[in-house]
Amino acid sequence: MKRILVVGAGGQIGTELVPHLQKLYGKDNVIGADLKDLQVEKLREGGIGEKLDATDANAFADLVKKYKVDSIFNLVALLSATGEKMPELAWKLNMGALLNSLNIAKEFKCSVFTPSSIGAFGSSTPHYKTPQDTVMRPNTIYGVCKVAGELLSDYYFTRFGVDTRSVRFPGIISNGAQPGGGTTDYAVEVFYEIIKDGHHYTCEVPQDSYMDMMYMPDALKAVTDLMEADPARLIHRNSFNIASMSFCPKELFEAIKKRIPDASFDYDIDPVKAAISASWPDIMDDSCAREEWGWKPEWGMEAVVDDMLAAVRKKSVK
Ligand code: SER
Repeated sequence: MKRILVVGAGGQIGTELVPHLQKLYGKDNVIGADLKDLQVEKLREGGIGEKLDATDANAFADLVKKYKVDSIFNLVALLSATGEKMPELAWKLNMGALLNSLNIAKEFKCSVFTPSSIGAFGSSTPHYKTPQDTVMRPNTIYGVCKVAGELLSDYYFTRFGVDTRSVRFPGIISNGAQPGGGTTDYAVEVFYEIIKDGHHYTCEVPQDSYMDMMYMPDALKAVTDLMEADPARLIHRNSFNIASMSFCPKELFEAIKKRIPDASFDYDIDPVKAAISASWPDIMDDSCAREEWGWKPEWGMEAVVDDMLAAVRKKSVK
């Protein structure tokens, strides 16, 4: 990877992936593109920022030509809960950005990274130690896009030789840009709410609903390690299970309460999020990622709670 275009760069992952890539490959070799002017401005403060609607194939290809891009990181997506409110838009946006990424990669000989998700699985999937290769019948439009995206990306690899790679991300916990419209968002939101006066958080996900989660530094490392991995070792491509911790709201809130004794929590269950979280794995088996490209996470829940509380407190006093 020498010249990288990140599309959808202003979101939760892009906001931190862009600086991570800049550190590894140099500021001049990373182009962040986003649809929203405000995000483009922020990208320009730290490096190269461009405005792009990733569903516009010509504009997308123009950027790839302009910067002589050789790697596309496609982060464009409507997440699971928002997707259920606007299924048609979710399909158009999620699949449109991916199809353009793949076609442009084919034409300009780029590699492509697109995240898949725990959302690619559904209620008929084994929930405990969910295998790498298993039943994938998701119950959300977000998941339908992820499975279709995995298949399409593998198809572009086998049929056209496009170097496509992907991981199935757990819910990502971070203290940069906040996620929006996801089912796992509670595990980020809670830190922002609990440090406010009142120290209270109302959770929309059932207290005993286990989902895989991951701290951003591990997620970033996963992306760059996979993209740098020796292709000869990759038996799978789209997409690898990766896991680092799994917990339910009750466990996370107990860990927070140990640190903030007057923190209080209650539940106002969102039926859509409850159904989605119940359909996703409790914990994935990531042994293929470990074997094929050396995946090894560093962060567990207790350390994440300490780090998130410190980081979010610091932000709130700025
Ligand atoms: N974080 C995503 C969501 O909750 C899952 O990949 O929609």
